[in-house]
Amino acid sequence: MKKKETAVLLSQEKIGPGIYDMWIETSLAKEAEPGQFLCVYPRDKSTLLPRPISICQVAEALKADGRNTEAGSAERRGRDGRGALRLVYRVAGKGTAEFSGYLAGEPVEVMGPLGNGFPLEAGRGRKVFLMGGGIGIPPILELARRLEAHKQIIVGYRDSNLFLAEDLEKQGELYVATEDGSAGTRGNVMDAIAANGLDAEVIYACGPMPMLRAIKRYAESKGIPAYISLEEHMACGVGACLGCVVKTVEKDAHSHVNNARICTEGPVFEAKDVEI
Ligand SMILES: Cc1cc2nc3c(=O)[nH]c(=O)nc-3n(C[C@H](O)[C@H](O)[C@H](O)COP(=O)(O)OP(=O)(O)OC[C@H]3O[C@@H](n4cnc5c(N)ncnc54)[C@H](O)[C@@H]3O)c2cc1C
Ligand code: FES
Repeated sequence: MKKKETAVLLSQEKIGPGIYDMWIETSLAKEAEPGQFLCVYPRDKSTLLPRPISICQVAEALKADGRNTEAGSAERRGRDGRGALRLVYRVAGKGTAEFSGYLAGEPVEVMGPLGNGFPLEAGRGRKVFLMGGGIGIPPILELARRLEAHKQIIVGYRDSNLFLAEDLEKQGELYVATEDGSAGTRGNVMDAIAANGLDAEVIYACGPMPMLRAIKRYAESKGIPAYISLEEHMACGVGACLGCVVKTVEKDAHSHVNNARICTEGPVFEAKDVEI
């Protein structure tokens, strides 16, 4: 059940140019699933809409996570039953710029967990690709932590700022691609698959649209399912405004149109079901 609450910022760290790593203490951690997201409300009321940010990591018991105990009084929070969520984001405009200035102990208005999340059953016990591109990499971390499978994690970056790579390599075989060739395979995640001679039975992915289109084509050519998270523009975040629709292959049973709302029916879709 989604709900709105005032979380507390536990820690925030800059982990790359314009990229921030934030932990918040929140009861929403108890229900959060990989691939779901939170809406974070800027305090500046001229920034009307909340900003969707994916759940990067879930810590249900704060004591279990070294990073969070550093933030202090973790035992008390653990007893209160509030866990913590990690959000990793790139400053894109006014809202995310505001978030990047928040300090430990400050309140953060959030709503969530929102969206459907990745289907874990589809990949359990299988050989899988977990693919992330740029700021689509954060949700891949919690997915990798939860999924019991032969995990090949393939992530694409612009350059040698390999944010989250240290966390990801603990979760499976890690393959890196960089646009400038400064680390791993020069090129994109598809180039990394080819260069390393990789194959899989199921794909999970989040990243920019050209990457997701390439993954959809690849999955179709191999006859395997691909579950892609579409981090498109959003407005209300809760299904009310139709500001986030994606064209679907099948008609919706209720509305009889070839549309789905990314914020509620998504953000994760099987690639074969959407026209991107
Ligand atoms: C389900 C979902 C999950 C997301 N998860 C993350 C995440 O984990 N980390 C992260 O850094 N970002 C994530 N995003 C993108 C993030 O929501 C936007 O970058 C943010 O809302 C921008 O707000 P702003 O006020 O800073 O910038 P704005 O002033 O609103 O926009 C600044 C610029 O960014 C562009 N922009 C805004 N939203 C998006 C978007 N969704 N995709 C591409 N361009 C956009 C605008 O067109 C504009 O050019 C996610 C988006 C969705 C829909
Ligand atoms: S953002 Fe309003 S319906 Fe999806």
